[in-house]
Amino acid sequence: MKRTLYASAAMAALLLAGSGAARAESVTLYCSADEAWCQLMARGFEEETGITVDMTRKSSGETFAQVKAESANPKGDIWWGGTGDPHLQAAEEGLTEAYVSPMRSELNDWAVRQAESAGDRTIGIYSGALGFGYNKNLLEKNNLPVPACWKDLTKPEYKGHIQIANPNSSGTAYTTLATMVQLFGEEGGFDYMKALHKNINQYTKSGSAPIKAAGLGENTIGIVFMHDAVAQTASGFPIVTVAPCEGTGYEIGSMSLISGARHMDAAKKFYDWALTAEVQSRAKDVKSFQVPSNKNATQSEMAPDLSSIKLIDYDFKKYGSSDERKRLLQKWDEDVSTLPQ
Ligand code: G6P
Repeated sequence: MKRTLYASAAMAALLLAGSGAARAESVTLYCSADEAWCQLMARGFEEETGITVDMTRKSSGETFAQVKAESANPKGDIWWGGTGDPHLQAAEEGLTEAYVSPMRSELNDWAVRQAESAGDRTIGIYSGALGFGYNKNLLEKNNLPVPACWKDLTKPEYKGHIQIANPNSSGTAYTTLATMVQLFGEEGGFDYMKALHKNINQYTKSGSAPIKAAGLGENTIGIVFMHDAVAQTASGFPIVTVAPCEGTGYEIGSMSLISGARHMDAAKKFYDWALTAEVQSRAKDVKSFQVPSNKNATQSEMAPDLSSIKLIDYDFKKYGSSDERKRLLQKWDEDVSTLPQ
């Protein structure tokens, strides 16, 4: 009787080990770029490597909060896409893992600098300038002047016509907040956000939602990355993209390995693969018109030309630091979001 018991326990152990070996490799991807691009990346990696990808799309600030909340028992393996600031904050808080990819030599300087400033815990995968877009039919219908500058958006005639995301959830909106502080100074930047607040019809969760709503005719002006506005025009919607006259901020969309990842080997394979020119060149197939970080990747002709846009010298180190991001978000929550409209 005893022997039979031992024998069956040994058999069960063998079976378990066997099923482990046979189990397909997998990776859990937290994706903060546009849904269509996230899908393209997940399915492409699966097809080319046989590694199953379990992908969730969430905005940059939301993903940061999730990675932080799960840090005692990480569920995600790799975080791909989304603005660089929360990736830098995650790096500073030790939530992400240092890694030097063999692909690094193929990347533009700005992507490598992002890695070096974060002890190799993150890296740049794309770049794009902030701006806004408007629905030209709705603008005409409402007899509104064409906006050309950030300051135009605070004029009373645009009341109820502008949408932006909430900077807590969205990297796009946090980039906007940090850009205004850098353009107009701390006080001037917050005065700007307060004046803008009066014209906002809704704070969305995701950064690109305001311009998608404008494309559908549900909103007039959306403050978004310029490439997100161009994507709506490319989809046939009556959207015009504006590079604001005062100059503007920009993002270094980033990628990070999550500390304590359960599938670190597969996550590193995804990381190296995502930095290849061939994979980055696919972005335009799903109307993602960012500047790729791999020097050899090709870009769509529709992509905004960053060299022709007045870009500020965005201080990623400062605005991606844990203290500064927390401070600005708290100040926005207390001083801006609570104001009557
Ligand atoms: C869009 C843009 C990306 C950006 C992302 C941030 O998908 O195309 O360039 O990184 O928004 O998303 P979030 O929802 O965090 O603003």
